[in-house]
Formats: sequence, structure tokens, C-alpha cells
Amino acid sequence: MDVQSVAAPAIAYGGPAVAVAGGLSFLFLKTYLSQQRANPNRLPSLPVVPGVPLLGNLLELKEKKPYKTFTKWAETYGPIYSIKTGATSMVVAMVTKFDSISTRKLSKALRILTADKTMVAMSDYDDYHKTVKRNILTSILGPAARKKHRAHRDTMAENLSSQLHALAPRSSHEPINLRKLFQSELFTLALKQVFGKDIDSLYVDDLGVTMPREEVFQVLVLDPMMGAIEVDWRDFFPYLKWIPNTGFEHKIEQMYIRREAVMKALIQEHTKRIHSGENLNSYLDYLLSEAQPLTEKQLLMSLWEPIIETADTTMVTTEWAMYELARNPKRQDRLYEEIRNVCGSEKITEEKLCKMPYLSAVFHETLRRHSPVSIIPLRYVHENTVLGGYHVPAGTELAINIYGCNMEKEIWENPEEWNPERFLAENEPIDLQRTMAFGGGKRVCAGAMQAMLLACVGIGRMVQEFEWRLDDDTGEDVNTLGLTTQKLNPMHAIIKPRK
Ligand code: HEM
Repeated sequence: MDVQSVAAPAIAYGGPAVAVAGGLSFLFLKTYLSQQRANPNRLPSLPVVPGVPLLGNLLELKEKKPYKTFTKWAETYGPIYSIKTGATSMVVAMVTKFDSISTRKLSKALRILTADKTMVAMSDYDDYHKTVKRNILTSILGPAARKKHRAHRDTMAENLSSQLHALAPRSSHEPINLRKLFQSELFTLALKQVFGKDIDSLYVDDLGVTMPREEVFQVLVLDPMMGAIEVDWRDFFPYLKWIPNTGFEHKIEQMYIRREAVMKALIQEHTKRIHSGENLNSYLDYLLSEAQPLTEKQLLMSLWEPIIETADTTMVTTEWAMYELARNPKRQDRLYEEIRNVCGSEKITEEKLCKMPYLSAVFHETLRRHSPVSIIPLRYVHENTVLGGYHVPAGTELAINIYGCNMEKEIWENPEEWNPERFLAENEPIDLQRTMAFGGGKRVCAGAMQAMLLACVGIGRMVQEFEWRLDDDTGEDVNTLGLTTQKLNPMHAIIKPRK
């Protein structure tokens, strides 16, 4: 049997588990007894999805992103249950309250790519986390920092609009690939926020090559997004970790080495700029002058983190929203009417967003129906906890199924349908965390506000200035090779400037 393909999925939600019940039966018994001892309130034990000896439920988890299988199991076992992934086990839950569980559990691939948890999103909830989170909020994502980067976001909206106007006349022969344009603009924005400037190309000293901008994007964003869900079968069988898995190790290490080389080149170039007296409003400038000193590795990872976070999830959301609007002309018209009523002949701006409930509903419904992160990166329960009425002992690994929460039939009527109107009925401003797409608790997404501003102004401008329709419906399938739920085939659209 090909263990690699069997074991493929679990990496998507973070990798191996610490036992709720062990792989071998005596281990199971031992763990069960210790759980009972550690369960003073005598709460019910978690339902267990039955699996086969040794592999547990791995055979049923064929996809790299198993959120649909998790959701199907929830129909039988309820919103919270335990599964076995090889020799280890984990709890899968569709719950919204998990505040006290904020430590991460990473797969081998993620351990390497995150330089052993040296970034905000993947670190444990410790002093390092607090320091680097404070840094990113102060310099990029917090309210004051967002104001300082406003000009970059406005430039992004202008660039997007002018590129679309240039392409529109030919779009019936050469349909628009929005993903390419939007992703490139987000990358520009990220580089400006992090280093103060965009690039055309980059000389990478450690590799002895000059890379065009697209290759830099590949190395900093696309490769790590794919590497993050790579599988090392040893994650599921820790007692076999002495067996080499050279193919896997080489692939991930190459990604690590190339990313390090590119980031070093960028840091060197901009450190020279700073030393020559040219200061810019950038994360590097802030980290070198005002923040608590970081090691070389911490600095590199701190700077890389917002690049990968900015360039992917916001694009995934925006592409799905435009795809849905393009194939729902009535809803597109409704949004256009709202924009016309609020903005008249002026361009849509961030200030106007609060007056546009339908645009907000489009954004939130897209996050619900196409949650970019389907499963929250694994968390680790470090103290005995009650979750969804069950006792979850310390040491358990936890996967929160965001997709499942957002598709729950009891909460959302016809959850399969993309229907922004469902949010209008609520008759009050929509909370950014209404759909769980940004996670929750202490580790909730720090970039939610930036994502909302970029996606809403982007969607608003595109609908304000053009009529969108699909060239051919490239379908709803999701790309299973990257960390997020990107559309499998990019949307191809025909756009017509509005009068
Ligand atoms: C639509 C866009 C986005 C979605 C759906 C999203 C989703 C998420 C999710 C699910 C988490 C994990 C939360 C948890 O563990 O409970 C997270 C964490 C995080 N996100 Fe986002 N994200 C988005 C955009 C961004 C952007 C643009 C940035 C910044 C540039 C960003 C920065 C972060 C950071 C720093 C964390 C870690 C927070 C912590 O651990 O304290 N995100 N995001």
C-alpha cells in the first residue's frame, strides 16, 4: 500500500496528532483510563470515528484537504468527535468557542517552512508570539498603521482599474484572468508595506542569479503555499521517524533555502537603503529602528509573513466573489445599484464601505461559502478543557473545521447556495467574525480588516466600472494543492465598461 498517498490529507490541517487514544490497543486503554482520571466533571467522552488497525481513518482521508470528509462525519458523530491518523489521534470540531486553546501543533513540512514556528500565525501562544504580533500590528495591520498604508491601497485600486480598462476592449477574444492581475497587485502592496518599494527583478547573491519578479513571487508565495500541505508519512507514525524520507526532505528544504536566499537579498538591498539615509514607511524600517531587536532568522520570518499572508487569501476571496457575481447577473445589478446610490459619479472609497450593506453581504457570503482557510491550523490543548460539552484532556490535538461551521444546515438555510441576501436579514452591521472564516479566540486573524478593505474596495471598483460575465464557467472545484481553497481553474471573464 502507498502510505504516502493514504496519509496525504492530514498535513493540510497541520500534521500529526498527540493521542486522545493511542494507536495500539494497550495504549488506547491507558490513555482512556488517564482521561477518566483527568475528567473530574465526568463529562461524556468524545464520539470516536471507527477506523482500521494501524492506519485508523487515514484510508478514508484521501484528499489533501479533508474538510468535506470531516463535515460528512459530523452528520453521523455530531459537531465534535475524535479520529485516528495513523498512530496518533485528533479531535475534529465544529465549534465557535475555543479561546483557551491557542498553542499550535505543526507538521514536519510546516515546522521547516515556518522555521520552527518563528512567525505570528504559527507560533505558540507565548512571549515570542506576543512580541511579533505587536510588531506586525504596530507597523502594518493595526488601525494607525493601516492609515499610514492607505496610499498604497488606493494606488492598488487605481492600478487594477486602469489595467482592466486597458484589457476590456479585447476581453471578448482574450478573457480576463482576474487572479493574475489581482495577485500581482497584492504582491506589490505587500512589498511596499514590508520593504517600502516594489521590484522589477532581484539579484540573489546566495544563488548567483537575477530573478524576474514572477520568480520572486513563486519562491516567496506559491512554493510555500504548496509546501505547507506536503506530506511526510512519518508525521502519522512518529515511532518510524528514524526512516529517511529524502524526497520529501529535499523538496521542502529547497523551498526553505530559496526563500531564505531571496529574503536575504531583499533585506540586504533595503538595509543599504536605510544606511544611506533613505527612510521609508516600511516594516523593515520599523523593525530595525524602533522594535525590540530580533535575531536574523526572526527578522527574516517576520518580514516574509505578511508577504505570504497578503498575497493569497485576499485574492482567493476576491476571485470567488467576482466569479459568483459574474454568474449571478441579478445580484451584480443589485450591487451596482447600491454603489450608484451611495457613490453617484465618485469612485468608491474605504469611507463609503459602511454605507454599503449589500457589498458587505457579498464579502461575508463569499467568506462563508468559499472559506479561504477550510481548517484552522492545528491547535494543541495544553490543559484539560471542556469543548462542546465534552471533556477534552490536555495533550489533545484539535482541528477546527471552518468549512463545516459555515455549511451547517441548522445555522445556514440552504448552505450550498451563495446568497448574500441572507446577511441583509440580520439588519445590523456584520461582525468580521460572523462566518468563522478568520478563525476565533486569541489567535483570530490579525489581517481581517486589511483583507476586508482590499477585497471590498476591489470588488466595488470592479463592479462600479464594468459589467462582468463569465466567458465559460470554469466551475466550483477547489485547488487541492495549496493551503487555501483557491478556485481550481481561474475565472475567465468578459468585461464591458459601464456608461
Ligand atoms: C480573506 C482573507 C483572510 C482569511 C480568510 C484569513 C484567515 C485566517 C485564519 C483562519 C487564521 C487562523 C486563526 C485561528 O487560528 O483561529 C488567520 C491568522 C492570521 N492571519 Fe489571516 N486571513 C486572511 C487575511 C490575512 C491578511 C491579509 C493578513 C496580513 C497581512 C493576515 C494575517 C494573519 C495573522 C498574522 C494571523 C495569526 C494571528 C495569531 O495567531 O495571533 N491574514 N488568518
